[in-house]
Amino acid sequence: MIVLGIETSCDESAAAVVEDGHRIISNVVASQAEVHARYGGVVPEVASREHLQTIIPVVETALQQANVSWQDVGGIAVTCGPGLAGSLLVGVNAAKGLAYAHDLALIGVNHLEGHVYANWIDDPSGRPPSVLPSLCLVVSGGHTDLIVMEDHGRYVRLGRTRDDAAGEAFDKVSRLLGLGYPGGPAIERAAAGASSGTVQLPRAWLRGTLDFSFSGVKTAVLQMMRGPAPPPAEVVAAAFQEAVVDVLVAKTCQAAGELAVAEIMLSGGVAANSFLREELARRSPVPVRAPLPRFCTDNAAMIAACGYFHLSRGERSGWDLDVDSNLKFAA
Ligand code: KG4
Ligand code: ZN
Repeated sequence: MIVLGIETSCDESAAAVVEDGHRIISNVVASQAEVHARYGGVVPEVASREHLQTIIPVVETALQQANVSWQDVGGIAVTCGPGLAGSLLVGVNAAKGLAYAHDLALIGVNHLEGHVYANWIDDPSGRPPSVLPSLCLVVSGGHTDLIVMEDHGRYVRLGRTRDDAAGEAFDKVSRLLGLGYPGGPAIERAAAGASSGTVQLPRAWLRGTLDFSFSGVKTAVLQMMRGPAPPPAEVVAAAFQEAVVDVLVAKTCQAAGELAVAEIMLSGGVAANSFLREELARRSPVPVRAPLPRFCTDNAAMIAACGYFHLSRGERSGWDLDVDSNLKFAA
């Protein structure tokens, strides 16, 4: 079955054509990062207006690049939450209109579940599909969740952030260091050429839980930069990246050791970070799976992959499908 995926939850307008939940036929992402960069972060009103202008051309390009017609498409999967309400609305209404016009099945997808399904997308290594149950670390701009995926559609949350999400911390610290937006890639680049040396930043262990907290390390960076002798931005970036990755990796490995999972899956925008990928692979007691970096950050291929599994189970959304900016994932 060929599924058209549509994603507009934040600042990328994306559409993708994916076969059987794993084979990408086309994948188009129109990023608004440049538009928002001058404000140092995403401006919701600007984001929804940009989505309005780009979503139909992006869908048409995805179909053209895939060389498929509407007759070949079996269903439309669209992100319905969580995310920016005004942005989500553009994608959901486009999906509804297209599904109605072409008489196609419609399925609303949770953005975070979509991130997990980036791990089902084929990669050049030809590795076999995920083995379930699997432990999944979802690290994005808005969420940091440690989840057990017991089966398709069955999730149990073990821990989450109590304050800032990991990606949010990267973005805020990047702004503090004057490294720009989006912060994750900027910090990774700055840290690549630097050593944290003697700069030490605190780690919030929250012992006895699998929860996270990243606001303390952010405040420590703020105080350090306002102090009498602030270290170079690259050095602080390296120390910050080390502190965040240390906690993410330690807690994920601890959970993997306690549970009988066959592997760890990494997902969400922060999963594009090479240092996180390398450290987790190095310290994990079980094999680690991560999507190719371009499928870690927001894209519609992961939404189509996730939607395929829902549609295959006979699930459908009605014409009353609505957006939910706080849509929950895993209880
Ligand atoms: O999943 P995503 O694309 O959007 C959300 O669902 O939030 O994640 C975006 C987040 C941003 O905070 C961004 O700074 C972070 O992922 N990110 C990274 C990297 N690439 C993106 N963080 C660290 N290292 C990266 N290479
Ligand atoms: Zn995302």
